[in-house]
Formats: sequence, C-alpha cells, structure tokens
Amino acid sequence: MSTVILGIESSCDDTSAAVIKDEVILSNVIASQAVHQAYGGVVPELASRAHQQNIIPVVEKAISDAGIEKSEIDAVAFTRGPGLMGSLLVGTSFAKGFALARNIPLIEINHLHAHVLAHFIKEHSEDDDSPSFPFLCLLVSGGNSQIVLVHDYMHMEIIGQTIDDAAGEAFDKCAKVMGLPYPGGPLIDKLAKEGNPNAFEFSKPRISGYDYSFSGLKTSFLYFLRDELKKNPQFIEEHKADLCASLQKTIIDILMNKLLKAAKVTGIKEVAVAGGVSANSGLRNELQECAMKRGWRTFIPKFSYTTDNAAMIAINGYYKYLKKEFVTQEVAPYSRQAF
Ligand code: KG4
Repeated sequence: MSTVILGIESSCDDTSAAVIKDEVILSNVIASQAVHQAYGGVVPELASRAHQQNIIPVVEKAISDAGIEKSEIDAVAFTRGPGLMGSLLVGTSFAKGFALARNIPLIEINHLHAHVLAHFIKEHSEDDDSPSFPFLCLLVSGGNSQIVLVHDYMHMEIIGQTIDDAAGEAFDKCAKVMGLPYPGGPLIDKLAKEGNPNAFEFSKPRISGYDYSFSGLKTSFLYFLRDELKKNPQFIEEHKADLCASLQKTIIDILMNKLLKAAKVTGIKEVAVAGGVSANSGLRNELQECAMKRGWRTFIPKFSYTTDNAAMIAINGYYKYLKKEFVTQEVAPYSRQAF
C-alpha cells in the first residue's frame, strides 16, 4: 500500500507545500516573497505576514496539482526549525490544524536534514540515482555552510561548519557592497560568467579541520573596493564581471578545499551538494570536474529542490512515517538547532 505525505515549509521567506506518494513527487508549490527585495534582506515580520496570506492557497494548489483528495493524505510533515520563529509558527500551526481536522499523524522535520535528503525525491518511481550511504553532503545556503557525513536517512553528523558567515551570506553581503539587489548570489553567478576569475585576489581563511569562515573574505572585499573607489569612483561599474568572477572563485575554492579534504580523509566518493548556493554554476562545474578527475559520484539536486521547498520536507516525512516517528499537538518550533 502506498503512503501519501503532505509537506509544509515556512522556515524563511518561501511558503511551500508538496505532496509525495512514497518517494515520488506529485506536486511542489512554492510562493516566494518579493516584498523583501526592497530591504536588501528578509524582514522577519513581513515574512510571517506573507506566510499567513500564502499558506492556504499554496496548500490547496499542491493538493489539486497532485490530483488527489485530502482524504488520501496519510500524514502531514512540517518544518519545525531552524528558521525564523514567526515564519515557523505559521507552518507549524497550519500543520497541527490540518492533522487535527483530518485525524492523521503529525511529523516534525529538521530543515537542514530535509535539504540533505532532497536527493532522494523521485520524479518517477523507476528513478534510481540517489546517493548510497554513507555519503558526504556540502550543505550551503544563506544561513548554513556545513559538511555533513550522512550515515542513513535518520543519522547525520556535521563534521565541519562555518564559524561565522554562511557561503550564501558572503555572496549576498558582497553583492550588496557592489550595489546589487538581494539576493546577490544568483546575480554574481550570472555576471561571473563574463568575467576573469583570476583578475583579483581576496583573502582566504586559514582554519584547521573542516570548518569554514567567510567573514574575513567579506571584509577583504569591502576594503579592497573602498581603496579602489578612492582612486576611481567608477571602479565597480568598470570591473563588475571580473569582481564577481574573482569573488565567486574565492568562495568556491574555500568550499571545495575542505570538501576535498573530508573526502580524502573519510575515503568517501559519494558527494552531494544541497542548499541555495548549490544552484551556483561555478560550484556545479567544480563538482563535475571532481567526478571526472577523482572518480566521485556527485549528486546535484534539481534546481527547484536547491532552494527552500516542501518536497524535501515531504520526503523526510515519508521516511519518518515508515518508522512511525510522530509528534503530538504540543510540539513547538525551534529557531536554532543545527541538527
Ligand atoms: O537555501 P536557501 O534558498 O535559503 C536560505 O538559506 O535562506 O539559500 C539562499 C541563498 C542566498 O544566499 C542566495 O544568494 C544563494 O542561496 N544562492 C546562490 C545562487 N542561487 C542562490 N548563490 C550563488 N549562486 C547562485 N546561483
């Protein structure tokens, strides 16, 4: 007998609902919030209000796109954290109400686990291209930069993480310095394609182990531009593509350096990437090169599963449903808790 899970994601600024049947995706609806663009970052108060407006239509659409009746849903899985508290409360409360009204189990999901397990979402039941355990996952988003050793669906170990800014934050903050709109990551990626990655050199951290740091790079970028702008006020405009390409190369070098080290030490050749920054074309190319040169099997999620989405919540919900890992109506969201 098959299992149908409704997934709900509302941890930051995307309201999303998805329906999954066993491991096969039936629908994945995402409502992004353009309201934050004017502020150069996510405004938590505005995010929770937009979630409140979006949640019902998004869920209705996900159910209708899936071509199922509400009565076919076996359980509802929701993002419990980490994320913005006001945003999480909307999804959590909706999921509780839905579970109660339909008398079905409620399943809590860790947002970061969900990003990692997005690799198991199938488009068709015969798909068979998921990573084998154990695998390494580079989880890079606006809030996290981690190397995760994934033992199985339920057991994951963070072996390295950022001690300050996340990789996505470095992209976004440096983009802001150049006067680019939020979120800057995708724009830097686009502009970088026309630039020379070796035009400029920015500082790279020297940290032992597998941990990351991006705050030094951000400062070095800021001071470099400040000095150049004193000499030539048009510096950014005249060198935008080279600046983007050089910055992107530096961020990718930092990320790949530790990932290569982790793969070497653990001997693991199954390597996945997850989170918003995994959409970056330079990072994707770099991983593909490692696959050819080092015999890695690399896993790069479909674009719609790289950023926040409910399909990844639903697939996690499916695995927890099989283990009967349910929560009660007393469950509350958490804003911080890595894993
Ligand atoms: O996982 P995600 O959607 O959610 C948050 O963690 O908020 O990641 C968003 C981050 C942003 O920092 C954005 O700039 C970055 O992912 N991002 C990219 C690209 N697409 C999104 N960074 C670099 N290159 C991209 N193509």
